[in-house]
Amino acid sequence: MATDLSTLSLFPATPEQITVARRRTLHEWGKGLTMEEHLARDASQDQFDGSRDGRLTTWYAGREYGFHLRSLIWRFKGASAERGPADPGLQVRMRDVSLVVDPAKNKGAETVTCYGIASVFTPLENRGNGFASHMMRLLHWVIADESLLPSSKFPAAWGTPPLKVDGTRNGRFSGLWSDVGDFYSSCGPVHGKREGMGDQRYRNDHDAGVSKLWEEDAGKMRADMEKSEHPGISFAYLPIQGVASFQHRRLEIFLQRLPVPPQTWGVASTDRTAYATWTIDPRPPALRTLTVSRVRADPQNFRGLVGKILEVARKHDVKRIEMWNLPVKLEILAGTFGAATHSREEHLPAFKFYGEGPEAEISWAFNER
Ligand SMILES: CC(C)(COP(=O)(O)OP(=O)(O)OC[C@H]1O[C@@H](n2cnc3c(N)ncnc32)[C@H](O)[C@@H]1OP(=O)(O)O)[C@@H](O)C(=O)NCCC(=O)NCCS
Repeated sequence: MATDLSTLSLFPATPEQITVARRRTLHEWGKGLTMEEHLARDASQDQFDGSRDGRLTTWYAGREYGFHLRSLIWRFKGASAERGPADPGLQVRMRDVSLVVDPAKNKGAETVTCYGIASVFTPLENRGNGFASHMMRLLHWVIADESLLPSSKFPAAWGTPPLKVDGTRNGRFSGLWSDVGDFYSSCGPVHGKREGMGDQRYRNDHDAGVSKLWEEDAGKMRADMEKSEHPGISFAYLPIQGVASFQHRRLEIFLQRLPVPPQTWGVASTDRTAYATWTIDPRPPALRTLTVSRVRADPQNFRGLVGKILEVARKHDVKRIEMWNLPVKLEILAGTFGAATHSREEHLPAFKFYGEGPEAEISWAFNER
């Protein structure tokens, strides 16, 4: 019998539920690891800068707290006496620092709260029942700024809005990278609407060095957005506070197994006008790939910067280098020294902006890895 979605809501997961959810996602996110290694990797991720102090939270969809908890614990003990209602879960990165520029307001870049969503998951046996779609729709009601998405607009057919949790309902936008195609576009906050979601000297940088680069970069990104000629609203995630470092730290367990584990995560010209930071994904069977997480360059110094990235790639036997959404001038230049431009078929960016106005006119600035 189909589940009445109005009986489902979203709840922050308890520590026990988080462990259950992590155990269940070994196949999806722990390939190449034993269960113990997978759990240890997730536990260490809880200590990253971008996770501490409640910045990374796990949520689940269920009927009501007590019932769901009970069903999860039974499953945890291995009994099959009762099926839980849904058990889909997701991870939400909270309170990322970000910028929004609205030329109509004429007041420069505004620092706002935003959210990043990852690890959306429904256990195999519960898939195809609309749980994940509904969970993603409800999520807007957990995170969107309540002045922009007031509870009075919550669709009656969905029951009541999720309970407010301290520190939430303050987001100006949320985003994710989809590995399931267009799936999230049907998960808007209101039923039925498709409105979801050169010649310079260079220095290599390790963890502390790249953190400093990202701090400096945040100021430059602000300045770029303020002088951008984009006519509508633009927004950007800032790489600070563990947001960009997450990319290489999350892969650390695999990187440490390489004969020469990489320790350099960025390169910058001595005058800091050109720099790039990256992560390396060494997991077979995919080609070993270096993905650039931030790049700043102009046509004069881009070739030199790419040369430095190639040196790192060769040192670590990287077979492929990716830069996402390069500025057009740099993309054309990259083509002249052999790079090919493709449209991605996975990790598709998706966002939901919680203010007024058509999303087609809103731009995601610095939409890199
Ligand atoms: C993606 C996922 C969360 C969907 O959960 P669900 O509860 O079954 O979702 P719903 O019932 O709301 O929607 C099902 C729809 O998901 C979409 N979908 C699922 N997997 C997909 C994929 N790999 N590519 C594109 N669409 C996909 C399909 O459109 C499907 O529609 P269908 O029922 O007509 O086949 C679930 O399949 C899952 O946990 N997958 C493994 C983890 C994962 O890949 N997460 C997404 C990371 S971005």
